[in-house]
Amino acid sequence: MTTTKTYRLTAVAPDAFAETCARVLFETVKNKPDAVIGLSTGRTTGDIHRRFAALVRAHNLDVSRLTIFGLDEVTGVSRNYFGACVWMLEHECVNDLGIAPENFLMLPLTSDDWERDCDAFRAELARRGGITLLELGLGENGHIGFNQPGTPFEQRAFHGRMHDYLEARIRRETGTPDDIPLGGVTLGIADVMDAYEIMLCANGAHKKQALTDALWGPVTTDLPATALQTHPNLRIICDTDAAPDPV
Ligand code: GLP
Repeated sequence: MTTTKTYRLTAVAPDAFAETCARVLFETVKNKPDAVIGLSTGRTTGDIHRRFAALVRAHNLDVSRLTIFGLDEVTGVSRNYFGACVWMLEHECVNDLGIAPENFLMLPLTSDDWERDCDAFRAELARRGGITLLELGLGENGHIGFNQPGTPFEQRAFHGRMHDYLEARIRRETGTPDDIPLGGVTLGIADVMDAYEIMLCANGAHKKQALTDALWGPVTTDLPATALQTHPNLRIICDTDAAPDPV
């Protein structure tokens, strides 16, 4: 493994992690009120989103021209399921921020034509000027969004399978029987790489290996986040538990 690559990496104490990430979101909107910001859902980002909304409110920032969109979505579940990305984002920040429905973009939970809907989603982001900032969580196996290991780097938005572990959990939580398909729809790695800026967020010791490999391991589709190594405007924020050893 080579450690010669340098990054814009900030490692902070665990209790400062969410606030540090939230400030990047806040500053982005402050500098560009018509920003298009993509958010990931999961354990990493919930607190970031709540703090982002609190910062916006505390500073009375105008978010009427802000677009928020979700990087990915669980498919085959109800919109009211607490594990649906749309539900999570609404409850973590979108409602609190008062984002108008037309400025909150999500990939659909169901579709009779995924290719059409994925293309339409990408076209709408492009129509709004492209992705100003994309917040990414990091899977322990190096996945980003629903781009699991093996996904080609040229992949655009698509509908596919989710991780077995996540699928089993969602089936349990929703009581969905095995014969009803569940899946994931996500921006592809090529769409992710088109973002003007990426903020990769990771906290906790369980993310340390994935973060180290993502930043300094060989670039390979076996670890989707290694694609980010060549992004021209990547910022990494982690806590000291997840901080890679070379820093
Ligand atoms: C999930 C989501 C991603 C998320 C990632 C990390 O499967 N599809 O959008 O960023 O995995 O999740 P967590 O933050 O819970 O570790």
